[in-house]
Amino acid sequence: MFALGQLQLKSNLFLSPLAGYTNLPFRLTIRELGGLDLATTDLVNARSLLEKNHKAFKLIETNAQDRPLAVQLFGSVPEEMRDASLFLESLGVSSIDINMGCPVRKVCRVGGGSAMMTELDKTAALVKGMVDAVKIPVTAKMRLGWDDDNLTAPDLARALEGVGVAAVFIHGRTREQGSSGTVNLEGIRKVVEAVKIPVIGNGDVTTPQGAKLMITHTGCAGVSIGRGAFYNPWIFTHTSHYLESGELLPEPSFEERIRVLRLHFDRMIQVFGEDLGCRMFRKIAPWYSKRFGPANLFNKRIVTCSSRAEFEEILSDYLVWRRQFLDENGELRETYRPLPLVSAFMEPAVAARTAIPVPKGPVEVW
Ligand SMILES: Cc1cc2nc3c(=O)[nH]c(=O)nc-3n(C[C@H](O)[C@H](O)[C@H](O)COP(=O)(O)O)c2cc1C
Repeated sequence: MFALGQLQLKSNLFLSPLAGYTNLPFRLTIRELGGLDLATTDLVNARSLLEKNHKAFKLIETNAQDRPLAVQLFGSVPEEMRDASLFLESLGVSSIDINMGCPVRKVCRVGGGSAMMTELDKTAALVKGMVDAVKIPVTAKMRLGWDDDNLTAPDLARALEGVGVAAVFIHGRTREQGSSGTVNLEGIRKVVEAVKIPVIGNGDVTTPQGAKLMITHTGCAGVSIGRGAFYNPWIFTHTSHYLESGELLPEPSFEERIRVLRLHFDRMIQVFGEDLGCRMFRKIAPWYSKRFGPANLFNKRIVTCSSRAEFEEILSDYLVWRRQFLDENGELRETYRPLPLVSAFMEPAVAARTAIPVPKGPVEVW
């Protein structure tokens, strides 16, 4: 059990917002595998929501199975952030997260995202307006600070606690770091020590052991996982099992990966239609295939896939092609098996070789 203000959650593991990816099909697919309770949408512009912009509405598309749901808002105009929060509350959203970590110029230029970390009083006043207006919990997602000389997160977290924020999500990097360099666990610990509200650690958690290490090293109350969920949509159920029992579950079989890939693909088509769903899935499928073993044929063809029929054809051709790498029991021969995943901050030497790639998306740098 995890208390986010008045909201009781069944898990202290969270899905990080990933613009372009954390849409309804992805959230439903991960929820079904277990271990996750509160999931978050991509960042949504508060003003676009109030203007009933079609794209903003698509970003908050949800259904009864997609609960509890947080919507992440960005913006810098207090009245817009407050009114967008009221609107989301009226739709039945479970909580609202405020984006204070986005380093993208377009977002910072208008005073949103990471820029909010540089003006504590102004930010606290904006957040107070939201917290006072709604009954549902309001949370904030931030980085450690703008750069190494301005590690403002502990002060900002304290200021936000003072105006009633229910929890803070902290990505253990600065704005200047973008997605590179190692996550700074000490930096996360300083935020934990600065406040009494729950602090949820984030950054480079790709394994259950990584989640546990982040919790024990920083004292954070939970962990939020982004890219690790691309590689391994089972990470929430495996991590929750590991945190409770100390037992590591085996990686899912290839057949299970294909089953979930198909489910995810079907949902993309249901939600976005065949044409757009296929186009969007072109950048999702290669994440699944990173754990397939040899997948050149699949990767080459999936990036032009434009229909359900073509998807099935690619998959069946790939299954035949992949047989050459299997042993007599139908298992991938050892030399072709993907290396085990390691959370980057656990073994820096491995991290240098295998830093988590940043997927292409509507944002250039995160
Ligand atoms: C493609 C992409 C999109 C992202 N979109 C968002 C976003 O919309 N809002 C946000 O707060 N963070 C966003 N992030 C940052 C992630 O939520 C997370 O903080 C970061 O990736 C580190 O966690 P991870 O290593 O578990 O992925 C994004 C990151 C990536 C790679």
